[in-house]
Amino acid sequence: MTVSDHIASDAEQLRARVAELLGASRARSTALTDAVDEADLVAQHSPLMSPLVWDFAHIGSQEELWLVRDVGGREPLRPEIDGLYDAFQHSRASRIELPLLTPAEARTYVAEVRDKALDALDRSPLTGRRLLEHGFAFGMIVQHEQQHDETMLATHQLRVGAPVLHAPAPPAGRPLPAREVLVPGGPFTMGTSTEPWALDNERPAHVVEVPAFVIDAAAVTNGEYTAFIAAGGYDDRRWWSEAGWAHRVQAGLTAPQFWERDGSGEWYRRRFGVLERVAADEPVVHVCFHEAEAYARWAGKRLPTEAEWEKAARYDPATGRSRRFPWGDEDPTPEHANLGQRHLQPAPAGAFPAGASPLGVQQLMGDVWEWTSSGWHPYPGFEVFPYAEYSQVFFGGDYRVLRGGSFGTDPAAVRGTFRNWDLPIRRQIFAGFRCARDVSPGESA
Ligand code: AVJ
Ligand code: FE
Repeated sequence: MTVSDHIASDAEQLRARVAELLGASRARSTALTDAVDEADLVAQHSPLMSPLVWDFAHIGSQEELWLVRDVGGREPLRPEIDGLYDAFQHSRASRIELPLLTPAEARTYVAEVRDKALDALDRSPLTGRRLLEHGFAFGMIVQHEQQHDETMLATHQLRVGAPVLHAPAPPAGRPLPAREVLVPGGPFTMGTSTEPWALDNERPAHVVEVPAFVIDAAAVTNGEYTAFIAAGGYDDRRWWSEAGWAHRVQAGLTAPQFWERDGSGEWYRRRFGVLERVAADEPVVHVCFHEAEAYARWAGKRLPTEAEWEKAARYDPATGRSRRFPWGDEDPTPEHANLGQRHLQPAPAGAFPAGASPLGVQQLMGDVWEWTSSGWHPYPGFEVFPYAEYSQVFFGGDYRVLRGGSFGTDPAAVRGTFRNWDLPIRRQIFAGFRCARDVSPGESA
Protein backbone atom coordinates (compact mmCIF):
# COMPACT_ATOMS: atom_id res chain seq x y z
CA MET A 1 0.00 0.00 0.00
CA THR A 2 1.16 3.48 -0.77
CA VAL A 3 1.13 6.29 1.78
CA SER A 4 -1.98 7.80 0.21
CA ASP A 5 -3.74 4.40 0.32
CA HIS A 6 -3.00 4.30 4.05
CA ILE A 7 -4.40 7.77 4.55
CA ALA A 8 -7.50 6.82 2.54
CA SER A 9 -8.11 3.66 4.58
CA ASP A 10 -7.59 5.55 7.86
CA ALA A 11 -10.22 8.02 6.73
CA GLU A 12 -12.54 5.11 5.86
CA GLN A 13 -12.05 3.62 9.31
CA LEU A 14 -12.74 6.96 10.93
CA ARG A 15 -15.91 7.36 8.82
CA ALA A 16 -17.13 3.91 9.86
CA ARG A 17 -16.45 4.68 13.54
CA VAL A 18 -18.22 8.05 13.33
CA ALA A 19 -21.23 6.49 11.58
CA GLU A 20 -21.44 3.83 14.29
CA LEU A 21 -21.32 6.41 17.10
CA LEU A 22 -23.89 8.63 15.37
CA GLY A 23 -26.15 5.58 15.04
CA ALA A 24 -25.71 4.64 18.70
CA SER A 25 -26.55 8.14 19.95
CA ARG A 26 -29.63 8.27 17.72
CA ALA A 27 -30.78 4.85 18.94
CA ARG A 28 -30.65 6.21 22.48
CA SER A 29 -32.44 9.49 21.66
CA THR A 30 -35.11 7.45 19.88
CA ALA A 31 -35.55 5.03 22.79
CA LEU A 32 -35.83 7.87 25.32
CA THR A 33 -38.46 9.67 23.25
CA ASP A 34 -40.39 6.59 22.01
CA ALA A 35 -40.77 5.45 25.62
CA VAL A 36 -43.53 7.98 26.30
CA ASP A 37 -46.64 9.18 24.48
CA GLU A 38 -47.11 12.46 22.61
CA ALA A 39 -48.63 14.29 25.56
CA ASP A 40 -45.63 13.34 27.66
CA LEU A 41 -43.16 14.45 24.99
CA VAL A 42 -44.57 17.97 24.86
CA ALA A 43 -45.19 18.29 28.62
CA GLN A 44 -43.08 20.25 31.06
CA HIS A 45 -42.04 17.71 33.69
CA SER A 46 -40.11 20.33 35.63
CA PRO A 47 -39.34 24.03 35.09
CA LEU A 48 -35.67 22.98 35.33
CA MET A 49 -35.98 20.91 32.18
CA SER A 50 -37.07 21.34 28.58
CA PRO A 51 -39.97 19.35 27.15
CA LEU A 52 -38.41 16.13 25.76
CA VAL A 53 -39.47 17.14 22.26
CA TRP A 54 -37.35 20.31 22.59
CA ASP A 55 -34.19 18.31 23.42
CA PHE A 56 -34.91 15.99 20.51
CA ALA A 57 -35.32 18.74 17.90
CA HIS A 58 -32.42 20.73 19.43
CA ILE A 59 -30.17 17.69 18.87
CA GLY A 60 -31.13 17.88 15.19
CA SER A 61 -30.70 21.63 15.08
CA GLN A 62 -27.10 21.51 16.41
CA GLU A 63 -26.32 18.69 14.01
CA GLU A 64 -27.69 20.72 11.13
CA LEU A 65 -25.69 23.78 12.13
CA TRP A 66 -22.32 22.00 12.30
CA LEU A 67 -22.52 18.94 10.08
CA VAL A 68 -24.99 19.97 7.37
CA ARG A 69 -24.35 23.71 7.04
CA ASP A 70 -20.73 24.09 8.12
CA VAL A 71 -19.08 20.78 7.17
CA GLY A 72 -21.56 19.92 4.39
CA GLY A 73 -21.83 23.46 3.02
CA ARG A 74 -25.59 23.18 2.52
CA GLU A 75 -28.36 25.73 2.87
CA PRO A 76 -30.53 25.69 6.03
CA LEU A 77 -33.32 23.10 5.94
CA ARG A 78 -35.75 25.13 8.05
CA PRO A 79 -34.15 28.48 8.89
CA GLU A 80 -37.37 29.67 10.57
CA ILE A 81 -36.90 27.21 13.46
CA ASP A 82 -33.29 28.11 14.32
CA GLY A 83 -34.27 30.53 17.10
CA LEU A 84 -36.64 28.07 18.79
CA TYR A 85 -33.81 25.64 19.43
CA ASP A 86 -31.16 28.16 20.43
CA ALA A 87 -30.58 27.44 24.12
CA PHE A 88 -29.56 31.06 24.74
CA GLN A 89 -32.73 32.62 23.36
CA HIS A 90 -35.16 30.74 25.59
CA SER A 91 -34.77 29.50 29.17
CA ARG A 92 -35.63 25.88 29.85
CA ALA A 93 -38.68 26.99 31.83
CA SER A 94 -40.09 29.01 28.90
CA ARG A 95 -39.60 26.49 26.08
CA ILE A 96 -43.01 24.97 26.78
CA GLU A 97 -44.61 28.20 25.47
CA LEU A 98 -42.82 28.14 22.09
CA PRO A 99 -44.41 27.02 18.82
CA LEU A 100 -42.17 23.93 18.83
CA LEU A 101 -42.20 21.25 16.15
CA THR A 102 -44.67 18.53 17.05
CA PRO A 103 -43.20 15.11 17.87
CA ALA A 104 -43.96 13.91 14.33
CA GLU A 105 -42.41 17.03 12.77
CA ALA A 106 -39.37 16.76 15.04
CA ARG A 107 -38.85 13.12 14.03
CA THR A 108 -39.01 14.00 10.35
CA TYR A 109 -36.65 16.95 10.84
CA VAL A 110 -33.95 15.06 12.76
CA ALA A 111 -34.09 12.18 10.26
CA GLU A 112 -33.63 14.61 7.36
CA VAL A 113 -30.72 16.25 9.11
CA ARG A 114 -29.13 12.88 9.80
CA ASP A 115 -29.37 11.89 6.14
CA LYS A 116 -27.53 15.02 5.12
CA ALA A 117 -25.01 14.71 7.95
CA LEU A 118 -24.12 11.19 6.76
CA ASP A 119 -23.76 12.56 3.27
CA ALA A 120 -21.38 15.22 4.62
CA LEU A 121 -19.44 12.44 6.37
CA ASP A 122 -19.06 10.57 3.08
CA ARG A 123 -17.83 13.64 1.25
CA SER A 124 -15.65 15.30 3.89
CA PRO A 125 -11.89 14.74 3.66
CA LEU A 126 -11.88 14.78 7.50
CA THR A 127 -8.79 16.93 7.34
CA GLY A 128 -7.66 20.30 5.96
CA ARG A 129 -9.03 22.54 8.73
CA ARG A 130 -9.16 22.19 12.47
CA LEU A 131 -12.90 21.50 12.68
CA LEU A 132 -12.43 18.46 10.42
CA GLU A 133 -9.18 17.01 11.81
CA HIS A 134 -9.78 13.54 13.28
CA GLY A 135 -13.47 14.12 12.52
CA PHE A 136 -13.74 16.61 15.41
CA ALA A 137 -17.02 18.21 14.24
CA PHE A 138 -18.62 14.76 14.12
CA GLY A 139 -17.20 13.81 17.52
CA MET A 140 -18.52 17.06 18.98
CA ILE A 141 -22.01 16.33 17.63
CA VAL A 142 -21.95 12.73 18.89
CA GLN A 143 -21.06 14.08 22.34
CA HIS A 144 -23.71 16.78 22.11
CA GLU A 145 -26.45 14.25 21.35
CA GLN A 146 -25.25 11.99 24.17
CA GLN A 147 -25.21 14.95 26.58
CA HIS A 148 -28.81 15.71 25.75
CA ASP A 149 -29.63 12.02 26.11
CA GLU A 150 -28.39 12.25 29.69
CA THR A 151 -30.43 15.43 30.15
CA MET A 152 -33.50 13.61 28.78
CA LEU A 153 -32.82 10.77 31.22
CA ALA A 154 -32.86 13.34 34.05
CA THR A 155 -36.21 14.58 32.69
CA HIS A 156 -37.48 10.99 32.80
CA GLN A 157 -36.43 10.84 36.45
CA LEU A 158 -38.53 13.95 37.16
CA ARG A 159 -41.51 12.63 35.23
CA VAL A 160 -44.46 11.43 37.28
CA GLY A 161 -46.32 8.32 36.16
CA ALA A 162 -45.95 4.61 35.57
CA PRO A 163 -42.38 3.41 34.89
CA VAL A 164 -41.41 3.25 31.21
CA LEU A 165 -37.64 2.70 31.36
CA HIS A 166 -36.18 -0.64 32.40
CA ALA A 167 -32.64 -1.98 32.65
CA PRO A 168 -30.81 -4.84 34.35
CA ALA A 169 -29.25 -4.28 37.77
CA PRO A 170 -25.55 -3.36 37.84
CA PRO A 171 -22.91 -5.80 39.15
CA ALA A 172 -22.77 -6.42 42.91
CA GLY A 173 -20.53 -4.46 45.23
CA ARG A 174 -17.28 -5.91 46.56
CA PRO A 175 -15.18 -5.08 49.60
CA LEU A 176 -12.76 -2.23 48.97
CA PRO A 177 -9.07 -3.01 49.62
CA ALA A 178 -8.89 0.33 51.45
CA ARG A 179 -11.38 3.08 52.25
CA GLU A 180 -8.93 5.86 51.49
CA VAL A 181 -5.96 6.28 49.16
CA LEU A 182 -2.92 8.53 49.64
CA VAL A 183 -1.99 10.39 46.45
CA PRO A 184 1.65 11.54 46.59
CA GLY A 185 2.50 15.22 46.11
CA GLY A 186 4.28 16.60 43.07
CA PRO A 187 3.61 17.73 39.54
CA PHE A 188 1.06 16.08 37.29
CA THR A 189 -0.23 16.83 33.80
CA MET A 190 -3.84 18.03 33.86
CA GLY A 191 -6.00 18.41 30.75
CA THR A 192 -5.03 17.32 27.26
CA SER A 193 -3.59 18.63 24.02
CA THR A 194 -3.73 15.29 22.19
CA GLU A 195 -7.15 13.71 22.82
CA PRO A 196 -8.76 14.22 19.38
CA TRP A 197 -12.35 14.81 20.52
CA ALA A 198 -11.61 16.63 23.78
CA LEU A 199 -13.65 19.81 24.03
CA ASP A 200 -12.08 23.26 24.32
CA ASN A 201 -12.34 23.49 28.12
CA GLU A 202 -10.22 20.33 28.57
CA ARG A 203 -7.30 21.97 26.74
CA PRO A 204 -4.40 22.52 26.81
CA ALA A 205 -2.41 19.97 28.82
CA HIS A 206 -0.55 21.82 31.59
CA VAL A 207 1.52 20.81 34.58
CA VAL A 208 0.06 21.51 38.01
CA GLU A 209 1.76 21.04 41.36
CA VAL A 210 -0.63 19.08 43.61
CA PRO A 211 0.48 18.53 47.21
CA ALA A 212 -0.10 15.08 48.75
CA PHE A 213 -3.71 14.42 49.73
CA VAL A 214 -5.96 11.56 50.74
CA ILE A 215 -9.09 10.67 48.74
CA ASP A 216 -11.91 8.19 49.34
CA ALA A 217 -11.55 4.96 47.35
CA ALA A 218 -15.28 5.12 46.54
CA ALA A 219 -18.07 7.67 46.43
CA VAL A 220 -20.04 8.40 49.61
CA THR A 221 -22.79 5.79 49.93
CA ASN A 222 -26.45 6.10 50.90
CA GLY A 223 -25.61 4.32 54.16
CA GLU A 224 -22.97 6.90 55.02
CA TYR A 225 -25.18 9.76 53.94
CA THR A 226 -28.08 8.43 56.03
CA ALA A 227 -25.79 8.61 59.09
CA PHE A 228 -25.29 12.33 58.36
CA ILE A 229 -29.07 12.81 58.22
CA ALA A 230 -29.60 10.77 61.40
CA ALA A 231 -26.92 12.84 63.17
CA GLY A 232 -28.96 15.98 62.47
CA GLY A 233 -26.64 17.18 59.72
CA TYR A 234 -29.40 19.09 57.91
CA ASP A 235 -30.18 21.06 61.07
CA ASP A 236 -26.65 21.87 62.13
CA ARG A 237 -25.46 25.10 60.65
CA ARG A 238 -21.80 24.32 61.50
CA TRP A 239 -21.46 21.96 58.55
CA TRP A 240 -22.85 24.35 55.94
CA SER A 241 -21.29 27.31 54.17
CA GLU A 242 -23.19 30.57 54.42
CA ALA A 243 -24.64 30.17 50.91
CA GLY A 244 -25.29 26.49 51.59
CA TRP A 245 -27.21 27.16 54.78
CA ALA A 246 -29.26 29.91 53.15
CA HIS A 247 -30.21 27.51 50.38
CA ARG A 248 -30.85 24.62 52.78
CA VAL A 249 -33.33 26.83 54.71
CA GLN A 250 -34.97 28.47 51.73
CA ALA A 251 -35.43 25.20 49.80
CA GLY A 252 -36.33 23.23 52.93
CA LEU A 253 -33.81 20.49 52.22
CA THR A 254 -34.00 17.47 54.56
CA ALA A 255 -32.68 14.60 52.42
CA PRO A 256 -31.54 13.91 48.83
CA GLN A 257 -34.07 14.65 46.10
CA PHE A 258 -36.54 11.79 45.49
CA TRP A 259 -36.13 10.40 49.04
CA GLU A 260 -39.07 9.92 51.38
CA ARG A 261 -39.51 8.25 54.74
CA ASP A 262 -42.24 5.82 55.73
CA GLY A 263 -43.96 5.64 59.15
CA SER A 264 -41.23 3.48 60.64
CA GLY A 265 -38.49 5.91 59.62
CA GLU A 266 -37.16 3.75 56.78
CA TRP A 267 -35.88 5.71 53.74
CA TYR A 268 -37.31 5.07 50.28
CA ARG A 269 -36.47 6.69 46.98
CA ARG A 270 -38.32 7.03 43.72
CA ARG A 271 -36.27 6.10 40.68
CA PHE A 272 -37.77 6.24 37.17
CA GLY A 273 -41.23 5.76 38.66
CA VAL A 274 -40.36 2.89 41.03
CA LEU A 275 -40.41 3.38 44.78
CA GLU A 276 -37.73 1.26 46.45
CA ARG A 277 -35.85 1.06 49.68
CA VAL A 278 -32.66 3.12 49.69
CA ALA A 279 -29.75 0.68 49.20
CA ALA A 280 -27.05 1.38 51.79
CA ASP A 281 -24.07 0.37 49.63
CA GLU A 282 -24.90 2.49 46.55
CA PRO A 283 -23.43 5.95 46.00
CA VAL A 284 -25.76 8.72 47.12
CA VAL A 285 -27.19 10.58 44.11
CA HIS A 286 -29.33 13.70 43.59
CA VAL A 287 -27.54 15.81 46.18
CA CYS A 288 -26.49 19.37 45.44
CA PHE A 289 -23.00 20.80 45.95
CA HIS A 290 -24.06 22.38 49.25
CA GLU A 291 -25.22 19.04 50.65
CA ALA A 292 -22.00 17.36 49.50
CA GLU A 293 -19.94 20.07 51.15
CA ALA A 294 -21.91 19.86 54.42
CA TYR A 295 -21.54 16.09 54.54
CA ALA A 296 -17.78 16.35 53.98
CA ARG A 297 -17.40 18.89 56.77
CA TRP A 298 -19.47 16.74 59.13
CA ALA A 299 -17.23 13.76 58.27
CA GLY A 300 -14.10 15.80 59.09
CA LYS A 301 -13.16 15.93 55.43
CA ARG A 302 -13.64 18.19 52.41
CA LEU A 303 -14.45 17.85 48.71
CA PRO A 304 -11.49 17.27 46.38
CA THR A 305 -10.39 20.10 44.14
CA GLU A 306 -10.79 19.47 40.44
CA ALA A 307 -6.99 19.02 40.10
CA GLU A 308 -6.98 16.49 42.95
CA TRP A 309 -9.81 14.56 41.36
CA GLU A 310 -8.04 14.40 38.01
CA LYS A 311 -4.71 13.45 39.59
CA ALA A 312 -6.42 10.64 41.53
CA ALA A 313 -7.98 9.48 38.25
CA ARG A 314 -5.11 9.82 35.77
CA TYR A 315 -1.74 9.97 37.51
CA ASP A 316 0.41 6.88 37.11
CA PRO A 317 3.11 6.98 39.81
CA ALA A 318 5.20 4.33 38.00
CA THR A 319 5.73 6.51 34.93
CA GLY A 320 4.68 9.98 36.07
CA ARG A 321 2.34 10.06 33.04
CA SER A 322 -1.33 10.97 32.99
CA ARG A 323 -3.58 8.23 31.58
CA ARG A 324 -6.69 8.76 29.46
CA PHE A 325 -8.74 6.85 32.03
CA PRO A 326 -8.02 5.48 35.54
CA TRP A 327 -7.45 1.96 34.17
CA GLY A 328 -5.21 3.00 31.28
CA ASP A 329 -5.51 4.39 27.79
CA GLU A 330 -8.17 2.00 26.43
CA ASP A 331 -11.70 3.22 25.83
CA PRO A 332 -14.19 2.15 28.51
CA THR A 333 -15.67 -1.38 28.32
CA PRO A 334 -18.54 -2.70 30.47
CA GLU A 335 -15.91 -4.19 32.85
CA HIS A 336 -14.39 -0.78 33.57
CA ALA A 337 -17.31 1.41 34.53
CA ASN A 338 -21.05 1.87 34.83
CA LEU A 339 -21.57 4.19 31.86
CA GLY A 340 -23.90 4.36 28.88
CA GLN A 341 -27.35 3.85 30.47
CA ARG A 342 -26.79 0.07 30.56
CA HIS A 343 -27.96 0.16 34.18
CA LEU A 344 -30.33 2.89 35.21
CA GLN A 345 -28.75 3.34 38.63
CA PRO A 346 -25.32 3.73 40.20
CA ALA A 347 -23.54 0.49 41.12
CA PRO A 348 -22.60 -0.37 44.71
CA ALA A 349 -19.14 0.47 45.99
CA GLY A 350 -16.49 -1.95 44.74
CA ALA A 351 -18.50 -3.16 41.71
CA PHE A 352 -15.82 -2.25 39.13
CA PRO A 353 -12.39 -3.28 40.43
CA ALA A 354 -11.08 -3.44 36.82
CA GLY A 355 -11.73 0.30 36.56
CA ALA A 356 -9.47 1.24 39.50
CA SER A 357 -6.71 3.82 39.11
CA PRO A 358 -3.06 2.73 39.59
CA LEU A 359 -3.25 3.98 43.18
CA GLY A 360 -6.46 2.01 43.81
CA VAL A 361 -9.18 4.67 43.60
CA GLN A 362 -12.37 3.04 42.30
CA GLN A 363 -15.40 4.03 40.24
CA LEU A 364 -14.09 7.44 39.28
CA MET A 365 -15.73 7.04 35.88
CA GLY A 366 -19.46 6.34 35.73
CA ASP A 367 -22.05 5.70 38.47
CA VAL A 368 -22.45 9.32 39.65
CA TRP A 369 -20.98 12.66 38.60
CA GLU A 370 -18.77 13.84 41.43
CA TRP A 371 -18.92 17.36 42.80
CA THR A 372 -15.54 19.02 43.29
CA SER A 373 -14.79 22.15 45.32
CA SER A 374 -13.58 24.01 42.21
CA GLY A 375 -15.34 26.76 40.32
CA TRP A 376 -15.68 26.75 36.53
CA HIS A 377 -12.57 28.40 35.07
CA PRO A 378 -10.49 28.09 31.88
CA TYR A 379 -7.12 26.36 31.96
CA PRO A 380 -4.07 28.54 31.28
CA GLY A 381 -3.80 28.89 27.49
CA PHE A 382 -7.52 28.16 26.90
CA GLU A 383 -8.80 28.98 23.42
CA VAL A 384 -12.45 28.96 22.35
CA PHE A 385 -13.08 26.11 19.90
CA PRO A 386 -15.25 26.03 17.96
CA TYR A 387 -17.88 28.22 19.69
CA ALA A 388 -17.90 30.38 22.84
CA GLU A 389 -21.35 29.26 24.00
CA TYR A 390 -20.19 25.75 24.90
CA SER A 391 -17.72 26.63 27.69
CA GLN A 392 -16.52 30.18 27.71
CA VAL A 393 -19.71 32.07 28.46
CA PHE A 394 -20.08 30.09 31.70
CA PHE A 395 -16.55 30.69 33.02
CA GLY A 396 -16.42 32.61 36.29
CA GLY A 397 -20.11 32.16 37.09
CA ASP A 398 -21.42 30.52 40.27
CA TYR A 399 -20.78 27.02 38.95
CA ARG A 400 -18.95 24.04 40.44
CA VAL A 401 -17.07 21.46 38.43
CA LEU A 402 -18.27 17.86 38.35
CA ARG A 403 -16.13 14.98 37.12
CA GLY A 404 -16.27 11.37 35.97
CA GLY A 405 -19.69 10.90 34.38
CA SER A 406 -22.67 8.91 35.66
CA PHE A 407 -24.59 5.76 34.73
CA GLY A 408 -26.47 8.06 32.34
CA THR A 409 -23.33 9.30 30.52
CA ASP A 410 -22.18 7.59 27.35
CA PRO A 411 -18.53 6.49 27.07
CA ALA A 412 -18.29 8.68 23.95
CA ALA A 413 -19.11 11.72 26.07
CA VAL A 414 -16.67 11.38 28.98
CA ARG A 415 -12.95 10.81 29.65
CA GLY A 416 -10.40 11.37 32.39
CA THR A 417 -10.07 14.99 31.29
CA PHE A 418 -13.79 15.69 30.76
CA ARG A 419 -15.17 18.65 32.72
CA ASN A 420 -18.83 19.18 33.58
CA TRP A 421 -20.27 22.08 35.54
CA ASP A 422 -23.53 23.10 37.18
CA LEU A 423 -24.94 25.48 39.77
CA PRO A 424 -24.26 24.48 43.40
CA ILE A 425 -28.01 24.15 44.13
CA ARG A 426 -28.81 21.67 41.34
CA ARG A 427 -29.94 18.16 42.29
CA GLN A 428 -31.76 16.79 39.24
CA ILE A 429 -28.47 15.73 37.61
CA PHE A 430 -27.04 12.32 38.51
CA ALA A 431 -24.51 13.74 40.95
CA GLY A 432 -22.95 12.44 44.14
CA PHE A 433 -19.45 12.97 45.53
CA ARG A 434 -16.46 11.49 47.26
CA CYS A 435 -14.48 13.15 50.05
CA ALA A 436 -10.81 14.07 50.33
CA ARG A 437 -8.64 15.41 53.12
CA ASP A 438 -5.20 16.82 53.77
CA VAL A 439 -2.49 14.36 54.78
CA SER A 440 -2.07 14.21 58.53
CA PRO A 441 1.41 14.60 60.07
CA GLY A 442 3.33 11.33 59.95
CA GLU A 443 1.00 9.89 57.30
CA SER A 444 2.97 11.09 54.26
CA ALA A 445 4.74 8.51 52.14
C1 AVJ B 1 -21.76 20.37 29.76
C2 AVJ B 1 -23.75 19.35 30.58
C3 AVJ B 1 -23.16 21.58 31.26
O1 AVJ B 1 -26.17 20.45 29.13
O2 AVJ B 1 -25.75 22.45 29.78
C4 AVJ B 1 -25.43 20.68 25.77
C5 AVJ B 1 -23.77 20.42 27.70
N1 AVJ B 1 -24.00 22.27 26.00
N2 AVJ B 1 -25.67 21.58 24.82
C6 AVJ B 1 -25.39 21.38 29.30
C7 AVJ B 1 -24.40 21.12 26.52
C8 AVJ B 1 -24.80 22.56 24.95
C9 AVJ B 1 -23.91 21.22 28.96
N3 AVJ B 1 -23.15 20.63 30.12
FE1 FE C 1 -27.30 21.57 23.49
